Amino acid sequence: MNPLPESVEVRRGTPRDAATLLALQHRLDAQSRFMLLEPGERADDPAAVARRLGDQLGFDILAFHHDIAVGWAQVEVQPWARVRHIGYVVLGVDREHHARGVGTRLMKAAVHEAGVAGLTRLELTVMTDNAPAIRLYLRHGFVVEGVRRRAIMRGSGQYVDELSMGLLLPGPTSRQSPVGAGRAPRRSASPSAVRR
Ligand SMILES: CC(C)(COP(=O)(O)OP(=O)(O)OC[C@H]1O[C@@H](n2cnc3c(N)ncnc32)[C@H](O)[C@@H]1OP(=O)(O)O)[C@@H](O)C(=O)NCCC(=O)NCCS
Repeated sequence: MNPLPESVEVRRGTPRDAATLLALQHRLDAQSRFMLLEPGERADDPAAVARRLGDQLGFDILAFHHDIAVGWAQVEVQPWARVRHIGYVVLGVDREHHARGVGTRLMKAAVHEAGVAGLTRLELTVMTDNAPAIRLYLRHGFVVEGVRRRAIMRGSGQYVDELSMGLLLPGPTSRQSPVGAGRAPRRSASPSAVRR
C-alpha cells in the first residue's frame, strides 16, 4: 500500500498558482508520453498561465503537496452557445505521486465542479495504450464513444490511436464543493489553444 499523505490538498486553481502549475506541466511533458506536448514545446510563460486561470469559462483543479502542484485537472469550456454545456478534461499527476489516489480525487472534484457550473457533458481523449488513465475514466462513468485513428504521432513516426470518451452529467448540482471555495466560471470568448 502506498497511502495518500494527508498533506495533499485538492482545490480550485487561481492565477496565483500559475508558476507551480507551469512547473508541473513541464514535468509532465518530460515524464509522460501520454500528454499532448513533447518536452520543450510548451511556452514558458507564467503570466499567460495566470491569465488563463483567471479568465476562462472552465476551471482547473490542482493537487498540492507542501505547496507544490503534484496533480492537475483542467476542464476547458468553449464560449459558443451550442457547446457551452461541454467541458473538455485534461488530467495529469506527477509520476512521484502516482497510485496514491490523487488522480481519483482530481477527477471526482472536476466532475463535481462541472455539475456546479451547470455543465451536462464531460469529454476527453486518451491514447489507446494508456491503460491506467482509461481505467480511471471508466471508473468515473466515462464511456468510449469512438476511436480517433492515427490521432497522435509519437516519437519518431509512431502513430497511436486515441479513444474519445464522454460522461453525461445530470445537471446543476449544489455549490457545496469538496475542493474549497472558488468563484464561478466567468463567461469570456478566450478558449485556450493547448488542451493538455
Ligand atoms: C492517469 C493518471 C492521471 C492516474 O493518476 P493517479 O494519481 O495515479 O490515479 P489514482 O492513484 O487515483 O489511481 C491509479 C491506480 O492507483 C490505485 N490507487 C489509488 N490509491 C491508492 C493507494 N492509496 N494505494 C495503492 N493504490 C492506489 C487505484 O486503484 C488505481 O489502480 P488501477 O490503475 O489498477 O485501477 C496518472 O497515471 C498520470 O498522470 N499519467 C501520466 C499522464 C496521463 O496519462 N494523463 C492522462 C492523459 S489522457
